[in-house]
Amino acid sequence: MRRYRAADRAAVAAVCLKTAASGGDATGVYSDDALMPEVYALPYVEYAPDLAFVVEVDGRVAGYVLGIADTEEFIDWYARVWAPAFRERHPVAGPPTAHRPAYTEAQLVADGGDSERMRIPELDDYPAHLHIDLLPELQGRGLGRRLIDALRATLAERGVRALHLGFDAANVGARAFYERLGFHELPSSRPGAPRFGISTR
Ligand SMILES: CC(C)(COP(=O)(O)OP(=O)(O)OC[C@H]1O[C@@H](n2cnc3c(N)ncnc32)[C@H](O)[C@@H]1OP(=O)(O)O)[C@@H](O)C(=O)NCCC(=O)NCCS
Repeated sequence: MRRYRAADRAAVAAVCLKTAASGGDATGVYSDDALMPEVYALPYVEYAPDLAFVVEVDGRVAGYVLGIADTEEFIDWYARVWAPAFRERHPVAGPPTAHRPAYTEAQLVADGGDSERMRIPELDDYPAHLHIDLLPELQGRGLGRRLIDALRATLAERGVRALHLGFDAANVGARAFYERLGFHELPSSRPGAPRFGISTR
């Protein structure tokens, strides 16, 4: 495990794509494989490369945790910098693929251009947030716990009290993992859109 470097960008995008279908491979699920990484991975390493940790196996990045210390500041940056360029690249949803995902391309494209989706009611108490993904061959070896521990420790050092995250309700493995690590459900969590939080210490 090590800190993210600029040269890891494409590998991080690839890991995101391969884990973006409720934890499974999302290749070909949307009309453009760049969409998922452009919403859930690349803005993170662009804005906060210092809060990204990767797992490297045989010289290849195969997992990461991506963190944001102050989600409110990230929302402002996303609205000013990332969303306009994203909307230019993806003005409309592409043609449907054979996969018909529950999280539709129309919703994904709308989310990519919408910074406000990240403004959760608990932001004052849980200002940080994260995304974590490991390729299948690295799962179940304690690396997810180590990545989260590394990010929590870094956030704690910076004086950030707590963090939150959201996940796909269909991703039962992610729920079990977060519960095992001590995350708890936040008041704004919904059965269709679960949201968890944890202190950084
Ligand atoms: C979810 C994910 C990050 C977990 O990382 P991981 O390295 O596989 O998990 P770890 O091996 O560190 O497990 C930590 C603890 O959680 C438990 N756990 C992990 N996955 C679990 C599962 N599917 N069911 C039950 N418990 C689980 C482990 O048993 C372990 O408990 P222990 O430390 O007390 O022994 C990883 O599996 C992954 O990237 N999955 C695909 C992408 C994904 O779903 N990302 C999250 C999107 S919100």
